[in-house]
Amino acid sequence: MKRKWWHDKTAYQIYPKSFLDTNGDGIGDLRGIIEKLPYLEDLGIDLLWLSPVYCSPMADEGYDISDYYSIDPRFGTMEDMDELIAEAKKRGIAVLMDLVVNHCSDEHEWFKRACADPEGRYGEYFYIRDGREDGTAPTNWRNYFGGPAWDPLPGHPGKYYLHVFHKKQPDLNWENPELREEIYRNINWWMEKGLGGFRIDAICNIKKPAAFHDYEPDREDGTASVRHILEEAEGIDVFLNELKRRCFEPYDAFTVGEVFNERAEEIPMFIGQDGFFCSIFDFTANHYGRSDLGWYAWKPCLPGNYRDCTFAAQKAAGTECFLSNIIENHDEPRGASRYIPDGERDDTSKKALAAASFLLHGIPFLYQGQEIGMENKRFGSYEEISDVSTKGEYQAAVEAGCSKEEALRAVSAFSRDNARTPMQWDGSPHAGFTSGTPWLMENENYKRINVEANLQDPESVLHFYRKLIRLKKDPALKDTLVYGETVPYLPSEENLMAYFRKSVPAGWLDDLHEDTPEILAAVNMCGKKRRIPLPEKMRKILLSNLPVQEIRDGALVLLPWQAVVLTKEDA
Ligand code: GLC
Ligand code: CA
Repeated sequence: MKRKWWHDKTAYQIYPKSFLDTNGDGIGDLRGIIEKLPYLEDLGIDLLWLSPVYCSPMADEGYDISDYYSIDPRFGTMEDMDELIAEAKKRGIAVLMDLVVNHCSDEHEWFKRACADPEGRYGEYFYIRDGREDGTAPTNWRNYFGGPAWDPLPGHPGKYYLHVFHKKQPDLNWENPELREEIYRNINWWMEKGLGGFRIDAICNIKKPAAFHDYEPDREDGTASVRHILEEAEGIDVFLNELKRRCFEPYDAFTVGEVFNERAEEIPMFIGQDGFFCSIFDFTANHYGRSDLGWYAWKPCLPGNYRDCTFAAQKAAGTECFLSNIIENHDEPRGASRYIPDGERDDTSKKALAAASFLLHGIPFLYQGQEIGMENKRFGSYEEISDVSTKGEYQAAVEAGCSKEEALRAVSAFSRDNARTPMQWDGSPHAGFTSGTPWLMENENYKRINVEANLQDPESVLHFYRKLIRLKKDPALKDTLVYGETVPYLPSEENLMAYFRKSVPAGWLDDLHEDTPEILAAVNMCGKKRRIPLPEKMRKILLSNLPVQEIRDGALVLLPWQAVVLTKEDA
């Protein structure tokens, strides 16, 4: 195995709109990110992923791009972006942009030209099809946000264009070599600015099936989820290999793909040594309990489910594939709210969840606010919802017969707005995010949960994350924490997530001359105290979120939600 520059990195995702507003317009901006670079450096961050900051009408908060070569004035200027990349680099932080090329905005020049002349050159940039004989859409596909995946092509009765997401996000036709060239040119233009690489949005969608046809309806309205096209499409490898060869390999870029349909046995194809990407996100726990009916029918993911999903993914990835591990992102509810049961959610359990996820094999990705233990917001009414997909899901719940209250409760648990409320910097009005009115109201708990309070308290969630990051950088432990196999320990114990990071044998890495020390992480994911047996010599405590009770007769007492990280005495 060869070391790669990104193997040992810790990443942090910023949702720019909600990070820090420096000019009082209520919208976070690039200058806000520049201002907080010292904070991120101090935390120990190496890779910084920015959700999209390109020009956009913001129908899907920047994931609908109208110009791939410019920065949206809401976020700042290209000079700000250049400064951010340069300033981050000085602090040892590489910036990752978000690459959104499954679709663009319907306000992109390409789509406007396609509408002007669907038979012309730009018509080929999109999927434009005639409707059925009765004038309805070509297929019964439902887009990922709810609602049809086809909309009438403006100005051309009878013609439709495909959008697997919002109707303002027309899908780009990757079969067209000219379109692919346009995309590669843009990526390389950005790489030349000195980026570390890209997070690659919804990339599993770029290959469509050879023929378009209806799928078996999964909702009463006769629609079927558009995700079925992913199961049918063949040959995405051709596009992804070309993309890698033309854009990423020449720069030794770090790439993390948003792929949500991979089968376990396909992981090496995506991220093995010759894979399409460096990494892909592990969404197994996020996807637990899902249903095509909609969010109202999803099941919660309990700590035991989180453990089982995560262990399965770790096993599938093995030691040569580096998954990117998350407990939340801008599309998911807050991890602390999702995986920690109500009534048990406090700093101790948040730190326990942090340890459970951070010490896995792969690249840890923290999402802004996760490091201070931010939680889901309480939504009081439909009017408080901003996110397009949450609105679609609310509609689906009501159509399925939920009362308004039930629908609101169901979508609140999964709403993407949960993660998009302003970053909580301090206890001042609007959590110190803006001097104006925030574009989305802050979580009312900001007086208790904020960066300033976390910084002042040595026992805070933030300080625990700093310790985890430092542990991962410790020269004596680093190779184990980066390369060691994840092996579950006592996996049939309920609500216990314990695992070894196995010793890496000398020689497994070119420059490794000695076996590395084995590490054990043991996390009690429930409100009950327990005792677990400890393997021989596993006695040296590296980190714990609570004072360690004595280790006696080869057993370790774990308090409620206690996380302990150990290694062997002689290590
Ligand atoms: C990805 C993004 C999400 C966006 C969608 C369409 O899933 O993470 O925020 O809505 O793609 O671009
Ligand atoms: Ca601003």
